[in-house]
Amino acid sequence: MCLAAAGIWVTVDRDSFMTILPPFTDNFQNQVNVGIFSITIGAVMTLLGLLGCCGAQKESKCLLIMFFSIILIICIAETAAAVVALVYSSYLQCCGFSNYTDFSESYYYEQYGLYPSTCCAGSELFPCDEDNADFSNVVGCFKQIVKIVQTKVSIVGGIAAGVTAIEVAAMGVSMYLYCYLDKKAT
Ligand SMILES: *[C@@H]1O[C@H](CO)[C@@H](O)[C@H](O)[C@H]1NC(C)=O
Repeated sequence: MCLAAAGIWVTVDRDSFMTILPPFTDNFQNQVNVGIFSITIGAVMTLLGLLGCCGAQKESKCLLIMFFSIILIICIAETAAAVVALVYSSYLQCCGFSNYTDFSESYYYEQYGLYPSTCCAGSELFPCDEDNADFSNVVGCFKQIVKIVQTKVSIVGGIAAGVTAIEVAAMGVSMYLYCYLDKKAT
């Protein structure tokens, strides 16, 4: 509900919201999208909370298993999104596994004497032959992934660990209640 309230605040009056968020201000260009996104997520989470609460309160196995399934689906979707985001961001500026020489034995290089265009930084270094690739010295994708993970590990890891802990706890409690009700019924 707090998230949805913050989303409504950003959407309705973003200038006053900006004053309490000093460092991010420049990155906040699509505030309306951020606001609508927050409202949606906040509303979905509130409904989910009510669903779980109702299921527990009314001792309804149906509601509990629904709650469990939705959290499980969200968990899987989040993992997939995290993997895609990591892979996608690693594609931004890297070449080969360790450097451009990984492509030297490739069929394409042997045919045309050219490296993939990501191996040359900037369009002025075209075509991407050995000299330009050597001059560009674009970082290898392995190093790049490690760098991305390292620079974001504290923030992303912290958020991911917190969210996962809450989700696992929610699934555990709902499963426990479900099994408890199952036993009680027999
Ligand atoms: C490319 O990477 C390989 C393996 O790490 C290394 O032996 C080689 O010296 C590197 N070449 C250049 C031009 O950086």
